[in-house]
Amino acid sequence: MGAIRLSGFVLFVMQASSAMAQTCNTYVVPSIAGGFTQRTFIDFSGVQPGGNAASLLSSKGVSISNYPISAGPVPRTFVPSNVALGSGSLDMKVSAYNGSGSIQSSEISTNDVFKYASVRTVLKSSGVPGVVEGNFFYLNDNQEIDWEILTSTTLTSSPNVPAGIWATNQGVVPGTPSTHVTVPFTFDPSQGYHEYRIDWAIDATTFYIDGVQKARLTSNVPTQAGHWIWNSWSNGDPNWSNGPPKANSITHIRSIDIYKGFTSTRSGNLCNI
Ligand SMILES: *[C@@H]1O[C@H](CO)[C@@H](O)[C@H](O)[C@H]1NC(C)=O
Ligand SMILES: *[C@@H]1O[C@H](CO)[C@@H](O)[C@H](O)[C@H]1NC(C)=O
Repeated sequence: MGAIRLSGFVLFVMQASSAMAQTCNTYVVPSIAGGFTQRTFIDFSGVQPGGNAASLLSSKGVSISNYPISAGPVPRTFVPSNVALGSGSLDMKVSAYNGSGSIQSSEISTNDVFKYASVRTVLKSSGVPGVVEGNFFYLNDNQEIDWEILTSTTLTSSPNVPAGIWATNQGVVPGTPSTHVTVPFTFDPSQGYHEYRIDWAIDATTFYIDGVQKARLTSNVPTQAGHWIWNSWSNGDPNWSNGPPKANSITHIRSIDIYKGFTSTRSGNLCNI
C-alpha cells in the first residue's frame, strides 16, 4: 500500500515538473490581444547580504544608475552603493539626509528597450516617510507609465497629496497634463510583500496589486519602446515625495518578472500569465 502511494506521489511530481518545464512560446494575458514571447525573471528571494548586486542584475540585463538630477527643491543623485543585496531582497536605499548636498537615492534600469509589456514587481515599501518608490516605463517625459508609492502618503493624505498609490500615464504631447488616478491602499505596504504590476498594451495601461486590477488608463498610452526602471528617491517636494527622509529608507524588492517581446499573433505553446 505504501509503495502504491509512493509511486502515485512520484508520478504526480513528474507530471508537475514536466508541466513547469514546458516551453512557453507565447505568454498570454487574457485581457490583452496577442501576447509576449520573452520572459526575464529576477528572483532575489535566495540572496544574502554582501552578495554582488551589480553582477546579479547585469546577468539579467539590468544596470544600476549613477547620475544626478538637479531638479529640486533638493537635488538627488542615484548612487550605485545604495543598491545592495539584502536578506532575500534587492534593497534600494535613500540615505538619511544630513541637510546638505544631494539626496543619495537608488535606481536600476533595463538595458534594453521594449514596447508593450507586463511587468510584475514584488516589493515591500520602506515605511520611512519622504520617499518615492517608482516602478515604471520610461523613454522620456512624454513616454512614461508610473506606478508609484509615496511613503509619506500611503495611508494618510498630506495637505497637498492624497493618500494612496499613483497610476500615471505622462502626457504624450509635451506640455499637456498627465492621466492619473490615486488608488487607496487596502493594506499598509510597508508591512509585507505585495505584487505591483503594470500591463502596457496598445490601447491601455492597466495597474494591478496582487493580481487585482486597480486602475486602467486609456489616454496618453505610450507608443514608443523604452526602458523599465525601479527607483527609490526623494526631492523634498511637499507636493510630491515630501521629505527628505530623516532615516535611511530601504525598499525591499523580492522579485521582478518582465514579460516582453509583444506579438499580435499567439502561436506555439500558450501560457496564461
Ligand atoms: C552630508 O552627506 C553628503 C553625502 O550625501 C556628504 O558628502 C557630506 O559630507 C555630508 N555632510 C556632513 C556635514 O556630514
Ligand atoms: C506646493 O503646492 C502649493 C499649492 O499649490 C504651492 O503654493 C507651492 O508653491 C507648491 N510647492 C512647491 C515646492 O512646488
